[in-house]
Amino acid sequence: MEKHLIVVLIFSLHLSCVNSEDLVKQSPQTLTIQEGENVSFHCNYSSSSSDYLHWYRQDVRKSLVNLFILFSNGEMKQNGRLRATLNTKDRHSSLHITASQLEDSATYLCAK
Ligand SMILES: *[C@@H]1O[C@H](CO)[C@@H](O)[C@H](O)[C@H]1NC(C)=O
Ligand SMILES: *[C@@H]1O[C@H](CO)[C@@H](O)[C@H](O)[C@H]1NC(C)=O
Repeated sequence: MEKHLIVVLIFSLHLSCVNSEDLVKQSPQTLTIQEGENVSFHCNYSSSSSDYLHWYRQDVRKSLVNLFILFSNGEMKQNGRLRATLNTKDRHSSLHITASQLEDSATYLCAK
């Protein structure tokens, strides 16, 4: 079977403008993977505020879709092939896609 290439973009957003130290960093920023591969995105943030961490999906010409909201340390949420984890001690969150499909091509955003 021919495998498609899937391109995902990843960005971070600042939702809380209150704290200017609320930096959010993500890696990688662009990723091309083969259909069927597992992929992980990582997001670090510097804020110690206990606000929720959000993962969104954005498709071209569509509005943002909220995928996950995480708030407690060690929390893991799963929705189909998507899974998100949060580590509040390291101020780190990951989004994992299992067995990527063409339909996963999108922009994913991590927001704090
Ligand atoms: C997040 O932090 C970890 C550990 O400090 C570091 O290895 C990683 O490169 C950082 N990632 C980003 C996107 O800054
Ligand atoms: C992807 O992850 C799933 C579940 O963790 C695992 O069973 C599978 O072997 C992984 N596939 C690859 C290609 O690493």
